[in-house]
Amino acid sequence: MSLPYAEPYKIKMVEQIYRSTQKEREQWIEEANFNLFNLRSEQVFIDLLTDSGTGAMSDKQWSAMMLGDESYAGASSYFKLKKAIKNILGFEYFLPTHQGRAAENVLFSTIIKEGDIVPGNSHFDTTKGHIEFRKAKAVDCTINEAFDTTLDFPFKGNIDINKLEAVLKKYPKERIPLIIVTITNNSSGGQPVSMENLKQVKIIANQYGIPVFFDSARFAENAYFIKMREKAHEHKSIKEIVKEMYSYADGMTMSSKKDAIVNMGGFIAMRSEKLFRDASVFNIMFEGYITYGGMSGRDMNALAQGLDEGTEFEVLEAGIKQVEYLGNKLIECGIPIQFPIGGHAVFIDAKRFLPQINKEEFIAQTVAVELYIVGGIRGVEIGTILADRDPETRENRYPGLELVRLAIPRRTYTNSHMDYVAAVCKKIFDTRHEAKHGLRIVEEAPIMRHFTVKLEKIK
Ligand code: F0G
Repeated sequence: MSLPYAEPYKIKMVEQIYRSTQKEREQWIEEANFNLFNLRSEQVFIDLLTDSGTGAMSDKQWSAMMLGDESYAGASSYFKLKKAIKNILGFEYFLPTHQGRAAENVLFSTIIKEGDIVPGNSHFDTTKGHIEFRKAKAVDCTINEAFDTTLDFPFKGNIDINKLEAVLKKYPKERIPLIIVTITNNSSGGQPVSMENLKQVKIIANQYGIPVFFDSARFAENAYFIKMREKAHEHKSIKEIVKEMYSYADGMTMSSKKDAIVNMGGFIAMRSEKLFRDASVFNIMFEGYITYGGMSGRDMNALAQGLDEGTEFEVLEAGIKQVEYLGNKLIECGIPIQFPIGGHAVFIDAKRFLPQINKEEFIAQTVAVELYIVGGIRGVEIGTILADRDPETRENRYPGLELVRLAIPRRTYTNSHMDYVAAVCKKIFDTRHEAKHGLRIVEEAPIMRHFTVKLEKIK
């Protein structure tokens, strides 16, 4: 008999959380204008809004923080991080930033101009926001398989090479400053990109002379899936796979708050010394001097340690198995989710959950609000609200998928919490036919509206 899986860690510190009542939550969500970002964290029982900066650091990371060097220039913590980036990811040059979007801001300020085209696989919202803010265009070249949540396909994050080539053919090289491959592909359900696909993208990019950057927030999970699903790599270590993945990139932007399991931090890394020098100017303007960017010495120490631990198979397996645990529970209850189950989150397919609600009434947000009211669970809408309006027509963009993401912070919750989440989902699913209407927008910002949007229930 094989023994069940158990996590390779124990818990040294706990944080009390408040179990509110449904009556309290009904009032709070109304006060929050049906926007889950507006809730105070004490009003949330299980917070699955994001896995970003919400994971539990290890004892080794906490002790590395005590050794942080807070010197303004040339801190030893900077060199520790530089060494980790060189050893694990293979890049010679890097610039620290306070988080992932800051890395995008610095890099894009250096290389993107008005009218440019940036192909990629479902660019993350901050990435797209930073591209569109510069009056450039993000072109989604994700494979079509990604948009069918029922389809079992091992690498739904992949770039469609034909779609990519069509873009590279259509526009002159001068208008395509880079190709961005997001690993794993967050917006299409935490889905991985295969090694073969990364290699193909690089081959074609080389033919057209365009640099390739990886948006790397969940690069280690991507490596885990390559090991588990791509035969040629099954016997390699995560660190070996990561090294090969980055051999197909000219650079990367990184939100360290996910796979490097720190609360804050990011960076840009690259091979080109010229790009490093050009980007340094913007880094100094927006983030801080080049040896700390937006980070304190202790944060750089925790990140260096986190990069090392986060690329260990056992650490990745524990996180991904918990996501799988929740996903399988939801499948058992008949709840429609994105399949295969993603690396950092379970994505509920809201269109199949509430087929009677019109897309104009924000289906995924409607499900997310119910999860909060019934169980105090905070997920996040990855649907029409997040997709924003088209910058030219100002019409709502209706994405192929309306998802509610339940992101699982690393090492933060137990599987009893996951059982509870599954029970709440089931309770709502069992009474789903009673839902008649969704929500309408009362007020919204011109870009990245999901953070501050105000909504009301349609009666
Ligand atoms: N790229 C990807 C793929 C991301 O998932 C994120 C953040 C960023 C870039 C931006 O990084 O937050 O450090 O500025 N994703 C978080 C999430 C917010 O909840 O998925 P950041």
